[in-house]
Amino acid sequence: MLKNKKIILGVCGSIAAYKSAILVRLLVKAGANVKVILTADAGNFITPLTLATLSKNPVYTQYFEEETGVWSNHVELGLWADFMVIAPASANTLAKMAGGLCDNLLTAVYLSAKCPVFVAPAMDLDMWKHESTQSNIDKLLSYGNQVIKPGNGELASGLYGEGRMAEPEEILTFLANVVSASLPLLGKKVMVTAGPTYEAIDPVRFIGNHSSGKMGFAIADRFASLGADVTLITGPTAEKSIYPLKRIDVVSAADMLHACKAEFSTAEITVMSAAVADYTPVQKADQKIKKTSTEFSLELKKTEDILATLGQLKKGGQILVGFALETENEEEYAKGKLVKKNLDLIVLNSLNDKGAGFKMDTNKITIFNKAAEKTVFEMKSKTEVAIDICNEILKLAKA
Ligand code: CTP
Repeated sequence: MLKNKKIILGVCGSIAAYKSAILVRLLVKAGANVKVILTADAGNFITPLTLATLSKNPVYTQYFEEETGVWSNHVELGLWADFMVIAPASANTLAKMAGGLCDNLLTAVYLSAKCPVFVAPAMDLDMWKHESTQSNIDKLLSYGNQVIKPGNGELASGLYGEGRMAEPEEILTFLANVVSASLPLLGKKVMVTAGPTYEAIDPVRFIGNHSSGKMGFAIADRFASLGADVTLITGPTAEKSIYPLKRIDVVSAADMLHACKAEFSTAEITVMSAAVADYTPVQKADQKIKKTSTEFSLELKKTEDILATLGQLKKGGQILVGFALETENEEEYAKGKLVKKNLDLIVLNSLNDKGAGFKMDTNKITIFNKAAEKTVFEMKSKTEVAIDICNEILKLAKA
């Protein structure tokens, strides 16, 4: 769950700082990349060497190293992190965070951070109960920070009560739960096709189309950002995905058919946005065709309709989404394809809409479902269109 997550762990001056070592160990074991920031007082409870060794990263303690002048850029650190966890969070640091003070590296990074922030307070019973601490906690909650509540038990002072920092295992579970809640498609297999196909005429020429692959890549990235296990089958394109996913590069419609058939049976959601060639040369010449005659004709044969084939193979529980690109009678043609190819949704884009279509960064779509209900969307960037398409699919997946 926390694999490859970049986490800043802030450690304050509290006896609970010894638990930070265990927390770092657990986070690293879960696959996270951890960078630790110690406040000056925290260094009295746990050494930078311990935390640097466990995190496999240098530990940050101040804005710059006196001897070398090396500068620890708080803004960069704040932007680097996927999460910031302050554990233990002392009453003093909580108060600074609530008040916007930044007199040390940790609080400056907190003010610069754009990521979710978690605090695991640790202090004596009466300090925790004090109205000022509680009002600081309320303020932090109102800023959107999350509080991993302290537990009840024996405190370092010898008193019993609330104030003991949550155990490292509890902090880990808390973080993992937050991550899984933000990833509704965690572990679900999604297949997306993108780009054009190239149908070879001879070793140097092909029949292709203007598809850039932008729309399919945006859809694949959106699904991956929701935690899905995405397989992207793409024709030739310069596009690159942002999120980690399994990419299968193909060239021709026949290659794409082969890859789709191999992947489809395990995909819970399939979105076919590739612009697959409908026709391919009957024969591919082995050598470059010479211009000998004044006229030249090419014999073409139909390619197999991949989407229609998958529609026939589809089993209960699988969601299959197709695209339709039309220039006339758009709605009728789109609805016809939805039924004929046994789809759950069809995304229509019309070349009549300015700003929609090949190579553009924007698109305007209409989505039809099986009940022939239509949802019309505004012209948007392809990234936003991908979010709309995924949302419609998620509605079906939940139904
Ligand atoms: N498609 C496919 N295999 C093909 C042709 C198209 O999987 N050989 C898929 C596309 O990925 C798209 C959908 O079919 O999701 C519709 O493609 P489109 O070109 O609009 O329609 P066609 O069904 O090919 O019909 P026509 O060209 O006659 O409009």
